[in-house]
Amino acid sequence: MTGPDPAAAPSGDVAARATAGFRQRYGTQPAGRWAAPGRVNLIGEHTDYNDGFVLPFALPLRTVVAAAPGDDERWTVCSELDDDAVEFGPDEADEPGRVTGWAGYVAGVVWALRAAGHAVPGARLAIASDVPVGSGLSSSAAVESAVLAALVELGGLDLPAERWPRLAQRAENEYVGAPTGIMDQSAVIRGRAGHALFLDCRSEEVEQVPFDLDAAGLAVLVIDSRAPHRHADGEYASRRRSCEEAAQALGVAALRDVDLADLDATLDKLPDDETRRRVRHVVTEDQRVLDIVALLRAGRVRDIGPLLTASHASMRDDFEITVPEVDTAVEAALAAGAYGARMTGGGFGGCVLALVDADSADAVAAAVSTAYAERGFAAPGAVTVRPAAGAARLD
Ligand code: GLA
Repeated sequence: MTGPDPAAAPSGDVAARATAGFRQRYGTQPAGRWAAPGRVNLIGEHTDYNDGFVLPFALPLRTVVAAAPGDDERWTVCSELDDDAVEFGPDEADEPGRVTGWAGYVAGVVWALRAAGHAVPGARLAIASDVPVGSGLSSSAAVESAVLAALVELGGLDLPAERWPRLAQRAENEYVGAPTGIMDQSAVIRGRAGHALFLDCRSEEVEQVPFDLDAAGLAVLVIDSRAPHRHADGEYASRRRSCEEAAQALGVAALRDVDLADLDATLDKLPDDETRRRVRHVVTEDQRVLDIVALLRAGRVRDIGPLLTASHASMRDDFEITVPEVDTAVEAALAAGAYGARMTGGGFGGCVLALVDADSADAVAAAVSTAYAERGFAAPGAVTVRPAAGAARLD
């Protein structure tokens, strides 16, 4: 039950699949392979675009890009998701939205690099991935980041890794058109094994916070809710808009600037109950991130559980981004003994994470499956994860 989820990814080693895909498509060996992981967010949801705090970590599930230099200013990319390769040149790359579907993330990276003034080398690329698509584990950030790592190195571009997250985010915001924050790309690029990434989304300062689950006898169980995405894009954009309008109404640059100590008085200044609840989620969530970071710094991993669960309640009741499947998974995990559980990611489906004793992970996963069956939901997926390394060249 808690091994790699067989329904989530094609079988075989992902790096070998990328090489095989490259050789099959282009009839030659790649010049190199670059990997970038998916991520889960331990805590700090919908705080990134409010200039706040997040604490994600990179997953052992990876996307691998096998690549080699190609013709000048032509990019060809194939993926195991698709029988057909996609080829584009500067015309398509320079017009946001022109290349669509999964290849849009690749074209978006080329666009973002060119927009930042870099001479992007023509390239042939083949993508293979173990990061499930549409589960809220940032499969898109993984593709962007692996492609970015490949193009930076193939082109010998002068672009330090600290600047990659913003660039990959621009690919997603401006080329693909999804108004996401900086968290996913930061986790995927800057994540470190055994650590969670404490990121101040305003200054982009990071602290690698030790998150040693094994030493504490604990596990993070990631449960794929398998909930069909319900208008996730429109709802995400509308939450972001509400936050920005609220910040403007309150006369602050971003909701990060609202002081928790004055929260009630601040909320009274807002025009309606829905906006008040949106703001309360963001402001209290920022504080929960800080509280969890303090506990982890003190080595008190088990004690973060109640804060995880409080985050879920805030997303359910105030930010209103959960769905019955994820609420069911959280309740069932807690009833089966999890120390804490919450939905992770943008919402409206996706994954739940639960902090559990390592030796009870199977029992918690089974309890969630039973609760799902009782409600007639499609069976959930479950896998235990540890914080893994961020984007890197493989060989
Ligand atoms: C998605 C976005 C992130 C972040 C989360 C919510 O994953 O890509 O930028 O806003 O939702 O925390």
